[in-house]
Amino acid sequence: MSAKGRFITLEGIDGSGKSTQARMLAEVLEARGYDVVLTREPGGSPGAEEIRALVLEGDPDRWSAETELLLFTAARRDHLERTIWPALEAGRVVICDRFVDSTRMYQGLSRGNLRAKVDALHNLMIGVEADLTLLFDMDPGVGHARAKGRGTAEERFEDFGAGLQEQMRQGFLALAKEFSDRFHLIDAGRDMGAVAEDVAKAVLEHLA
Ligand code: TYD
Repeated sequence: MSAKGRFITLEGIDGSGKSTQARMLAEVLEARGYDVVLTREPGGSPGAEEIRALVLEGDPDRWSAETELLLFTAARRDHLERTIWPALEAGRVVICDRFVDSTRMYQGLSRGNLRAKVDALHNLMIGVEADLTLLFDMDPGVGHARAKGRGTAEERFEDFGAGLQEQMRQGFLALAKEFSDRFHLIDAGRDMGAVAEDVAKAVLEHLA
């Protein structure tokens, strides 16, 4: 499906700076003449943004792990149909802040072992992997402090605490080995400018 455009995803623990880097990357690519769509998950289409509020706000025990997996997948399917596929078909570069690797980690790992169900559902309903995935790797202590400092209503996963974030970090690193053909590791523990340089370099090399 991504025959024409290019699909780039950004992954990592909460507070790893992905969202800021995604915006900076979009600007770099636009300045070079690329036609860019910057989007995020959960969300990225009107329907998926509505589901976002259901999964990220309110009591952390509101949904079972299985129900939560279905909601994230429903949001992703809408995002794919309304935003990602049309952009890729038009030959655009899609930069997506989180995608299925977040589901593999958060729903597949953090709330019991649902990884097989995550993959089965993904194959059945989504079936798309990124062309390039940037993994923002950093000390979760720093990331957690940043994420908590935001003070939004969306603290669903941030609230699970630093222990979970360390488990997520290790999980993401394992995922990068599993999908080594598309993962690119970014040392996100440095200052923003240095990280942005690495990000731009990796993506421009990939697009060239
Ligand atoms: P977000 O505001 O995007 O956080 P960040 O800026 O740190 O990326 O919040 C997304 C939260 O949703 C984050 O804690 C991870 C979680 N999430 C899942 O649990 N499963 C998923 O499939 C996705 C896309 C996100």
